[in-house]
Amino acid sequence: MKILVVGSGGREHAICLQLSKSPKIERIYCAPGNGGTLNVAQNIDILVTDFDKLAAFAKENDIDFTFVGPETPLSYGIVDYFESRGLKVIGPSRYAAKLESSKIYAKKFMQKYNIPTARYNSFEKITDAIKFVESLNKDKKIVIKADGLAAGKGVYICNNREDAFYILKHVIENYKTSGDLWKNIIFEEYIDGPELSYLIFTDGVSYSMMPASQDHKRLNDGNKGPNTGGMGAYVPVPFLATKELNKKIEIDIIRKLISGIKSEKLDYKGVLYVGIILCNSSPHVLEFNCRFGDPEAQALLPLLDTDLVDICNAILDKKLSSIKIKWKKKFSICLVLVSGGYPGYFEKKVEIKGLNSINDKFTTVFHAGTQFYNGRFITSGGRVLGITSVSEDIKSAVDKVYSSAKLVSFKNMHYRKDIGRNLLKFLKKESEGIPSE
Ligand code: GLY
Repeated sequence: MKILVVGSGGREHAICLQLSKSPKIERIYCAPGNGGTLNVAQNIDILVTDFDKLAAFAKENDIDFTFVGPETPLSYGIVDYFESRGLKVIGPSRYAAKLESSKIYAKKFMQKYNIPTARYNSFEKITDAIKFVESLNKDKKIVIKADGLAAGKGVYICNNREDAFYILKHVIENYKTSGDLWKNIIFEEYIDGPELSYLIFTDGVSYSMMPASQDHKRLNDGNKGPNTGGMGAYVPVPFLATKELNKKIEIDIIRKLISGIKSEKLDYKGVLYVGIILCNSSPHVLEFNCRFGDPEAQALLPLLDTDLVDICNAILDKKLSSIKIKWKKKFSICLVLVSGGYPGYFEKKVEIKGLNSINDKFTTVFHAGTQFYNGRFITSGGRVLGITSVSEDIKSAVDKVYSSAKLVSFKNMHYRKDIGRNLLKFLKKESEGIPSE
């Protein structure tokens, strides 16, 4: 089979690599790809939003199906565009992708299908938003969210009413240049608690849950510093995502979500990511994402024990329930190495050294913001590499990922030193936390 993967991050490198393990693969193309996808795919210099060129490429090269990694082309309707030209594609339709691209749509969907989530108010007019903030108790903690896609930059946690006014001022200043991002302003009740990522494969009719994963969004150790796209993730989530919690999430959230998708007749084929926050142990949905998470995909996919091509074919044929998807019962941890200054300004085109020194069979280096230029790998983005180590036990996976990170270097490289290490103090025996069935 010939498959086109759309995207250029660590997630897309992980998807390409996982697809390449299938004996059914003849060729993988990645548009536009990165320095790492070159090793498993042929990079195609087409932007993820250039649907004309992507569809023409898929037709001319007899692509069997296209796998779309990022949210932007999905929210712009790449699936509708491809399908109207007879091309098979993994991803939700533009309308179904509103579960991620419109926070208000997602909130209304959750209310309608009785899916637990924080209470909210939304306003189209900034004057109404200001009135709402004026009506708040001065010490009220509240979350302000943009309705549209914001690449992680549309959520503000306000500690009190004064903070909320400050954020509204920022919104007003950027209103004209932010397109539809702040078309509606959402105020959400603040919930404090640990976050978990539950991803599912779905054909819109049935679903298969992936093991629970946990991202670490803040830039610095101890969950401090600004929010990023994600600094590291592990799978499963020992001590937190217990069998009981997973079952509760399946019953209270995932089943209702799929039933809502069916009732609304949403055309959903692919991966659906449910971001959960635990409020006094009770799971609430923070957000839906209509694609694999990144870095979650880099930690999850190395554990997948079923051919990803078979899963995609089953999704496309709406026969997902006919296959059993298996996952290795191991611990997988992904550590993200970023350019100094990220998520703000950072230097690019800096040489990455030491990549060949990582020779561990159970460690994979996924490229994100990299390019292969004049025989060398150079940086081209904020999140540069994701190193994933897999092991039977948590401690050796954590040790391996950190000893591998030490072998790589580039100017101003930064990574968190506490991903997975926070788990070690809870361990009584090494295999603890990894599910046995
Ligand atoms: N890891 C967060 C995301 O993919 O949106």
